[in-house]
Amino acid sequence: VSRVIPVDTFDLVIFGGTGDLARRKILPGLFRRYCAGQMPPEAKIIGAARSEMDAAEFREMVREAIGEFGSAPQSAGQLDAFLERVFYEAVDAKGDGGWDALKSHLRDDAVRAFYFSVAPSLFGDIAERLNHKGLSTPDSRIVVEKPFGHDLASAKALNATLAQYFDETQIYRIDHYLGKETVQNLMAVRFGNTLFEPLWNAQYVDHIEITVAETVGVGGRGAYYDKSGAMRDMVQNHLMQLLCLIAMEPPAKFEPDAVRDEKLKVIRALDPVEPQDIVRGQYGAGGGEDSYKTHVENDRSRTESFIALKAQISNWRWAGTPFYLRTGKRLRARTSDITVVFKDAPHSIFGADAGRHRNVLSIRLQPNEGMTLDVTIKEPGPGGMRLIDVPLDMAFADALGTDTEAVPDAYERLIMDVIRGNQTLFMRGDEVEAAWAWTDPIIEGWEARGDVPVTYDPGGSGPEDALMLLHRDGRRWREIK
Ligand code: BG6
Repeated sequence: VSRVIPVDTFDLVIFGGTGDLARRKILPGLFRRYCAGQMPPEAKIIGAARSEMDAAEFREMVREAIGEFGSAPQSAGQLDAFLERVFYEAVDAKGDGGWDALKSHLRDDAVRAFYFSVAPSLFGDIAERLNHKGLSTPDSRIVVEKPFGHDLASAKALNATLAQYFDETQIYRIDHYLGKETVQNLMAVRFGNTLFEPLWNAQYVDHIEITVAETVGVGGRGAYYDKSGAMRDMVQNHLMQLLCLIAMEPPAKFEPDAVRDEKLKVIRALDPVEPQDIVRGQYGAGGGEDSYKTHVENDRSRTESFIALKAQISNWRWAGTPFYLRTGKRLRARTSDITVVFKDAPHSIFGADAGRHRNVLSIRLQPNEGMTLDVTIKEPGPGGMRLIDVPLDMAFADALGTDTEAVPDAYERLIMDVIRGNQTLFMRGDEVEAAWAWTDPIIEGWEARGDVPVTYDPGGSGPEDALMLLHRDGRRWREIK
């Protein structure tokens, strides 16, 4: 895990360098890469934001952010040495101020990357200035964060704006779920083993479940979240990416366009979702915490903090196998997993008493990353041929003898991929648009019907109706625990 592939030296400009994402993820992540020896000693990180401050003040902010959110095993002096590689310029995203000073930091012989950790409404202004003021070169890369649009029309507009100044090969659209170690592992499991792939289709798979459960509420992000909701915030991007990786055809190569072409085909093969196949929920008050409506300061809000839905992929591989997706906030546990439930054995030689047994492969994305495969065996003892299901359980940390702390966080991995120029784990423009093309009619449908999300108690597994979504089909969700 700790094997480090060196990257070329770089100048990384972080627009929104004083913002929340920079402080929580980007800067602590870069420091971890520095401590791991992956960030070249001459690399430079240049924070850029509206506030007037000098490099020393920014370094202090970075030091605090790393103290609060970082977890790098560092030796004496490493943080000071890292901070020497950190700079700052105040820039006016909509004006002329600061751009020349910012440009003076950039070297001709270093990889140039510009991270847009700002509101999407500024993407166009920044892209234009990078171009017109001569900061970007044909080799420069830009990194953009979600939300990438609010619907299909706005995503298309954003893509068109960026395309005026940058080629698709220069644009790195982040979905941080793709940087998670276990998410990449999905591809390794599927395409590195002979065991699973022959069974990976509607003939053998009864259904697939994708759950991303969180314990946190909307916290201080109410203003953003209330305009977004779980569908836009999680399903359109993170869950959709997981669905693609689990359902796609094997790409011919592990290369950016080969992988992204296959993901795109999955999204395009998704059926529209019927209203009866969607459950939306909003958390009420409980456990000493306020309700969703209180958090977002909107007592008429109809935004969902939970969603469950049944998706169908109309292609040869998956026709007839439902994919149940669910995600929500203020649930019982923070746990994400993908569960593949295989069909029953075609014939039981053990008779009706042996009960119903099936193989279940469950991939835990977080926490405690790992995989379990339920297999049916004989219950030990003299009681005749009684069957039980036991899990072959593998926690990656145990199996690989790794300290999970040493596993790079999603952002670290993805930023290094940007520097390396590897787009495999980034979303292509057409993928994002296809995902919106699927979600738009779902959202328009509930808006037109005036649907109100059902209230659910915090600390549980979401609304009762979500359980019914599977019960109705004779199935059951895995427990959130
Ligand atoms: C973000 C969403 O993209 O992902 C958040 O905006 C959510 O609402 C977060 O909490 C979940 O990410 P993770 O890595 O904690 O599973």
